[in-house]
Amino acid sequence: MAVQTSFDPQAFRAALGTFTTGVTIITTQAEDGSPVGITANSFNSVSLNPPMVLWSLAKNARSLPVFSNGRHWNVHVLSTEQETLSGRFAKQGEDKFAEVELDTGISEAPLLQDCTARFQCRTAFQYEGGDHVIFVGEVLAFDHSDRAPLAFQSGQYALATRKPRSELRLATTPPPPECSYTEDLLGYLLGRGHYQMLHALRRLLKNQQLDEHAFFILSVLCIRDNLTIEELNTFVEYTGHVVSLASMRFLERQKLVAREVNGEQVRYVLTADGREASLQELALAKAVEEDISAKLGAGDAQALKVLLKRLIAASDPGLPDLWAAR
Ligand SMILES: Cc1cc2nc3c(=O)[nH]c(=O)nc-3n(C[C@H](O)[C@H](O)[C@H](O)COP(=O)(O)O)c2cc1C
Repeated sequence: MAVQTSFDPQAFRAALGTFTTGVTIITTQAEDGSPVGITANSFNSVSLNPPMVLWSLAKNARSLPVFSNGRHWNVHVLSTEQETLSGRFAKQGEDKFAEVELDTGISEAPLLQDCTARFQCRTAFQYEGGDHVIFVGEVLAFDHSDRAPLAFQSGQYALATRKPRSELRLATTPPPPECSYTEDLLGYLLGRGHYQMLHALRRLLKNQQLDEHAFFILSVLCIRDNLTIEELNTFVEYTGHVVSLASMRFLERQKLVAREVNGEQVRYVLTADGREASLQELALAKAVEEDISAKLGAGDAQALKVLLKRLIAASDPGLPDLWAAR
């Protein structure tokens, strides 16, 4: 790693940006009673006893005089659901508080709702900090929720995923000497997770006298009805299953799909029973997801989805997108 001693501002910024932070909105009230607020990630804890926190404000911020003259300000640690709000409070000239619901706090400083944590503060000290002013506040009240916190890293919003306190066996077990196929192989992890999540669905399919093959066909028709076998196959291809005339005849006999003949072309649609069966499967899949999200925690479940979507994009050999606009 090359050590930089000259201060190229961009490189310095980039180096500082590697320090991953949460994102806050800090609010106060101007003398004329108008609400003022900015997005800030310079927030940090200072002291537990007395309880104190700090943050720094750029000297060219329009809100500087208000924060400098005001006595009270509130720090809102934003949740992953509040990224849009963060963007709004980071822009000058917007009506930042338009349609924002507020709680009543212990001071006149606006108190935002639905945050991960909130600290209601009174200015204790202000320090010169180069092109910023450092505000140190005494915390007069605080509250927090279990909403996942929004993170910020290298100029981009991020999601924080917690590592387990003790290492999972998966990552540490050495592979058997004759085989380099470890428990840590991404394909194995994905497959194992997928098949375990399908456990309950397989039982439902058995009760419905169906199998995974039928499940894929019904799910595709539930999203895009009225398809030929060839079209069905383009959407089912990623599963490795091949839809045949025999598959469709079976579902027709079960009265789950019906054919519509137009000259030479045969298209398949879901019957009311087919839609019902598919919706039951979807409801179960959602219940399984809810159960797993509760075990992982909402923030980690959200982070997992982001990574899986990136994985799907990164591994896509060019298959059609079932959800793309027609
Ligand atoms: C994630 C993020 C973190 C930020 N952190 C700070 C900060 O700590 N201090 C600061 O002065 N500006 C920070 N900014 C920029 C201000 O939010 C932005 O300049 C804002 O428009 C200032 O508002 P004002 O000029 O209306 O006072 C941050 C912006 C973003 C997107």
